[in-house]
Amino acid sequence: MQIFLYFCSDFYRTTMETNSQLERILSLYDSQQIFVIADVNAHYEHVLGALPYPTLQLSVSAATKSLDRVTEMWDFLNNHHATRHALLVLIGGGTLTDMGGFAAATYLRGIDYVNVPTTLLAMVDASIGGKTGVNYAGLKNRIGAFHQPIDVVIEPRFLETLPETEWLSGWGEVIKTTLLSESHPILHNPSEQREAILPIIRACAAYKKAIVADDPTEQGLRKVLNLGHTVGHALEEVAGGQMAHGYAVIYGLVAALYLSVVRLDFPREILTQVTHIMVEEYGRPICNCKEIDTLIDKMRADKKNATHDGILFTLLRQPGEPVYNQAIPEQQIREAVDYLFSV
Ligand code: GLY
Repeated sequence: MQIFLYFCSDFYRTTMETNSQLERILSLYDSQQIFVIADVNAHYEHVLGALPYPTLQLSVSAATKSLDRVTEMWDFLNNHHATRHALLVLIGGGTLTDMGGFAAATYLRGIDYVNVPTTLLAMVDASIGGKTGVNYAGLKNRIGAFHQPIDVVIEPRFLETLPETEWLSGWGEVIKTTLLSESHPILHNPSEQREAILPIIRACAAYKKAIVADDPTEQGLRKVLNLGHTVGHALEEVAGGQMAHGYAVIYGLVAALYLSVVRLDFPREILTQVTHIMVEEYGRPICNCKEIDTLIDKMRADKKNATHDGILFTLLRQPGEPVYNQAIPEQQIREAVDYLFSV
């Protein structure tokens, strides 16, 4: 069954409404063909209560985002005789929904899945847009597929027990999206905003949905969402799974805003503001000179970003005015990374 509720669904306020959204989706499938994969730490009773579907609980982390975990998911589906008409419900953070989405993209050449994100990062970014995959050979998301979820069901109660590090990590993507989407961005400190998060989630998710609707497979416009990710991914790879994604995004954002100031006359005061949030809330990234060479190598290893004229970045002319495919020479990237490590 192929249905496309995804681009017209709304984001709900109460658990009752969230549950009815999920129940509506579940009612479209044979109840013998609904399977759940949930993070072992997710309070998934928030959405599924005691619903009797076969469930695989997994402990996942960036360090174990590998084909081994996906194999466990394939085994689970296969052992329960999942058919092409199955629905997979994924309950967890971005690492789980990325891997589960890839299992769904590949099992029997593709089955339906619905994402129920449990972290801020997954709610505002990772669970939306159909990028699925695993890390491979020390490189982030090297193996993967575009496979859109049938829907994304956001239940804010999951955030009540979200650890501080996860909150900060999600906030990295919130700041990125605010800079991409707002011409007069208000950049809040993450610690101030726990109470007023719903409109922020709604705005970030709506922005991402609109970009993905325009360019689902990242032929052009979707590259704007990679703001902060060129340096960010390289940092994550060097850290070997020990750096939370949103922390890497904040560090990568500071480098990208530095380049935006130098090359495109982006307002320096916004760079200063984001640098201040980084130092106060996230702490400086730890790095040595040798690692800077490794970071550049990692950026070059990302073949889709490497050109003769330099490495491709998404930058900002102004807040709300992103430009993608900006080829930056290595010397200038070194300057930006030096700025990041020396502020
Ligand atoms: N996280 C960037 C994207 O989904 O395109």
